[in-house]
Amino acid sequence: MKIKAAITAVGGYVPEKVLHNKDLEKMVDTNDEWIRERTGIIERRILEEGRTTSDMAVEAIHDLLKKTNITPQDIDLIIVSTVSPDHVYPATANIIADKIGAPQSWGFDMNAACSGFLYALRTGSQFIESGMHKKVLVVGADNMTMRVNYEDRNTCILFGDGAGVVLLEPIEEEVGILDSEFAVDGSGAKLLMQEAGGSYLPTTVETVKAKKHFIFQEGRTVFKHAVKGMADITEVVMKRNNLTADDVAYLVPHQANKRIIDATANRAGLPEEKVMINIHKYGNTTNATIPLCLWEWESKLSKGDVLLLAAFGGGFAWGSIYLKWAY
Ligand code: UT7
Repeated sequence: MKIKAAITAVGGYVPEKVLHNKDLEKMVDTNDEWIRERTGIIERRILEEGRTTSDMAVEAIHDLLKKTNITPQDIDLIIVSTVSPDHVYPATANIIADKIGAPQSWGFDMNAACSGFLYALRTGSQFIESGMHKKVLVVGADNMTMRVNYEDRNTCILFGDGAGVVLLEPIEEEVGILDSEFAVDGSGAKLLMQEAGGSYLPTTVETVKAKKHFIFQEGRTVFKHAVKGMADITEVVMKRNNLTADDVAYLVPHQANKRIIDATANRAGLPEEKVMINIHKYGNTTNATIPLCLWEWESKLSKGDVLLLAAFGGGFAWGSIYLKWAY
């Protein structure tokens, strides 16, 4: 039987500090009711000053490792999906490998904005399916709040910080990662971006003063693309695998907006109890949303459960993964 890649453990971490909608009311012209109704968010976590994306990832990995009988020295590869790496270079994966004591492993960072975790999970699964590696950590971690302009009510209400991680191992049963579909459309690049700091607009005093290092989003347009993109791509994966709503245990959607999640679930015919939703507690943690859902729901999952993972984000980049839970 063909070797498949299965998630065999999950870990997560969110910072302790909570920023409630009521706190944001004191910072910008917004209100708790608007944020709840338009996004589903009530509060989000904020990373303490002086701590980094890799620090959160390390906490999540420690959480994962204590549930398994493996040690950092057993890990072959660490893939980190993030848009807020510790540095532009070197890769955050290298720093994480050093911090957890896994010098034998190699690693790299990936950036597919909010869909990054799915892209990284699929990439990690290829290293398992090819037989090249036996233990791959796939991390989704973001310190979004350092990129948020707390004077811009269009974006500052949305984002939070966090990290999640899964372990991928080979399996020869009919479980694990079974199918996926991905898409990109670079014509949407300017609708959701950090404009400065790259080769397009290198950092200068002027770019900093103009606040071009913060998140920019044309929310209404991204929303329309997200509703269609996430629902369409999930439908493609369901149809190709002859899956009906009855077959699916859970939809695991990227947590950008509760209304986008509802639209995807409705199109798939899935009732709310079959949808993992924690946006009210954590907001949009970008690469961490999907692994943080798996982390929270882990105890409710059983071997063979069908999960549909789905995400849409900056780029545009979007995707869906079909897997059967392996434990
Ligand atoms: O994760 C990556 C992908 N990202 C997404 O999927 C996010 C997609 N976009 C969204 O989730 C939504 O577009 C937002 C939550 C960002 C905004 O919600 P919306 O329903 O699209 O609102 P809008 O931008 O159309 O604004 C509606 C009104 C505007 O006022 P007027 O022009 O109608 O008078 C805004 O100025 O709401 C106003 N508004 C606010 N009011 C109170 C915008 N932000 C706020 C706010 N508080 N924070």
